[in-house]
Parts: sequence; structure tokens; C-alpha cells
Amino acid sequence: MLKLGVIGLGIGRSHALAMMRSGKAKVVAICDIDASRMEKVAAELGGDVAMYTDYRDLLRHEGLDGVCVASPDHYHRDMVCEALDLGLHVLCEKPLALHAEECREMIAKAEQVGRKLMVGQVCRVAPGFALAKKIVDEGLIGDIFFIESEYAHDYIDIRGWRMDPELKRHPVTGGGCHAVDLVRFLTGKEPLEAFSYSNHKMLADWPCDDTTIAVLKFEDDVIGKVYVSTGCKRNYTMRTVVYGSKGTIICDNTTPHLSLFVDEFEGANRFMGKKMQNIEHQIPVSLSSHNIEAEVSEFCDCIVQNREPSIGAVEGAIAVAVCEAIIRSSETGNPEKIAY
Ligand SMILES: NC(=O)c1ccc[n+]([C@@H]2O[C@H](COP(=O)([O-])OP(=O)(O)OC[C@H]3O[C@@H](n4cnc5c(N)ncnc54)[C@H](O)[C@@H]3O)[C@@H](O)[C@H]2O)c1
Repeated sequence: MLKLGVIGLGIGRSHALAMMRSGKAKVVAICDIDASRMEKVAAELGGDVAMYTDYRDLLRHEGLDGVCVASPDHYHRDMVCEALDLGLHVLCEKPLALHAEECREMIAKAEQVGRKLMVGQVCRVAPGFALAKKIVDEGLIGDIFFIESEYAHDYIDIRGWRMDPELKRHPVTGGGCHAVDLVRFLTGKEPLEAFSYSNHKMLADWPCDDTTIAVLKFEDDVIGKVYVSTGCKRNYTMRTVVYGSKGTIICDNTTPHLSLFVDEFEGANRFMGKKMQNIEHQIPVSLSSHNIEAEVSEFCDCIVQNREPSIGAVEGAIAVAVCEAIIRSSETGNPEKIAY
């Protein structure tokens, strides 16, 4: 049984509970600067857990195998590098860091000390997106020529560190990194160039633009679109559409089915007089918008099996680099090359 710690108990609370339920790990230490929040989480975990208000003390808890860093984004680099230096394996929440340069430092550190560094790009294990990936990989929709993904989430009731003017945490990197990661994950292609427009009409007291639309040029002449809005007046969605030469997938992480339109199905391209691509095949998927159980399970398995995590830090770093190019383009008005 692995002994794990968790730093930051907002979404980190879910990581801690998932670790306890996994049967693969025990949470032996937790950390939060908010002691009352930490005490509540400790009680939920059964009480037998050490509590620290300084993450440096948690990192030195005796016998720890690994740690989940679920603190605000701007702490990720320092906390992750220090944990790695102390020989711990790390699961770090997305975005891996706010800037690609910091990500590179974290990856170099993990390589240097020979420890696992996994990033919480959790959409890859959300059932709808995982099924979409399987369908793409089995060739059912043919060659992808266009993909679009969106992160639309009204932040009107969200306050705190995300809106800190000093931090300038851009929504494209903050939440939009999920959509950016999905377009890479589902196409299996690298975006090479980004062109974007953004505006700031919805969240006046936030420091960054709240709506961004980016077009992406991928390798192999694939094109894509990412839309990020943290001020839109609608329910949260990460609707993603994958267009292939033989079919189309419409999926998200909040609908209990994935829609598949195919040119040909079981050998016939016509059914009841209708073209198959006019028929929506709804494939049920279980609802788990943040499938943290699967993420935690993979983190434990890669430690025990001494293999690289399926969602390694490089994936998180590339997502951040693409986000930076999108933000740069919205500022310069020019297409921006994506540098990894
Ligand atoms: N995978 C996802 O979909 C997803 C969803 C939400 C948040 N996140 C990411 O998770 C991280 C945390 O976000 P959140 O929503 O939980 O934020 P939050 O503000 O709800 O919680 C953060 C917690 O960290 C604590 N904290 C702050 N500074 C700390 C420090 N120096 N040491 C220890 N604890 C500290 C705060 O007291 C708070 O309890 C961010 O990186 C965020 O981007 C990811």
C-alpha cells in the first residue's frame, strides 16, 4: 500500500478521498494553509492522517512515497521541484505550471532524480473523451481533418486566487488547457501554429480577457478550433467535435452519451433509406466529469509498476506551450508558432 500526501484541499480533497477508496494507497499526510478546511478533510479521511500548514513539512513526512500537488497554479513549480528533490513521485494538477519555461524545469528535475511526474489532465480519463479516443484509434471515423473543443464555464461566482491581478492567470491556461489537451489527445497530432482573438466583456473585475477563440494548424494539414469563455451565460460544457473522413463524434464530459455519425456502419452505407451519417448513434457513457478515481489509480500503478504515467508531464507542458501561443497571438494579432 503506497503512502501518499496531498497539498491543497480544494479539488485536492477529491484526490485524497479517491486515494483512500482506490485500495492502492493510504493518505498519511495532508496540507493546507486553511487549518479548518484541513481538519474537515482529515475527519472525512477517518482522522488517522498527519496535518501540516507548511507544505515543506508535509514533504518531509516519514515514509511518504508520493504527493499530489493540488495547490493554486503558481505554486506548482516550487512544490513539485522540492517534492522531486526529496525523492517523491508527484501527481500535479493541471495546468502543470503557468509557463512552459517552468514546466521544462519540472520535467528536467523529474528526469534528473528518476521519479514519476504525472499531470492531472483529467479529461483524458473522462468516460466520454476516453471513448472518443478509442473510436478514433479504431479508425471508425477515418482520418481527422478538423477538431473543435471548448471550455465554457461561467466564473461569475468564482473569486480568490484565480482573479489575483499580480498573477494574471489567463483563462486559456487555467481552464482552457483542458480543451487544448483534448485536441492534441484526440487527433494524436501536434498543433504547430495558433491564431486567436480575445475580448474582455464579461468579467470586468478580472485581470485577463475572458473570451478567446483560437484556430490551430496541426501537422498533416489538420485544422482545429479552441474556444474558451469564463464569462458565458450557459451551463458548464467541454463540448468537443471530431470530424473524420468517415464520420463525426460529438462528445463532452457532462452528457450521458456520445454521439457518433458514420458514413458506413457494419458494411452498409444506407439504412432504412437514409444515409448513415444522418443517423445519430448515441452510445451511453457513464457521467464523471472529473474522473479523479481513474487518475489516482494510474498514478499509483505507474509507481508500483515503475513505468511512465500515461499522462506524463510532457503532455502537460505541451498544453501550456500551446496556451501561451494562443495568448500571445491574441496580444500580437499575428499567428504564433508553438514552441515546445
Ligand atoms: N482538473 C481539473 O479539472 C481542475 C479543477 C479545479 C482545479 N484544478 C486545479 O487544481 C488546483 C487547485 O484548484 P482548486 O480549485 O482546488 O482551488 P481552491 O482555491 O478551491 O483550493 C486551493 C486550496 O489550496 C490551499 N492553498 C493555497 N495556498 C497554499 C499553500 N501555499 N500551501 C498549501 N495549501 C495552499 C487553499 O487554502 C485551498 O484550500 C489548481 O491548479 C487548479 O487549476 C483542476
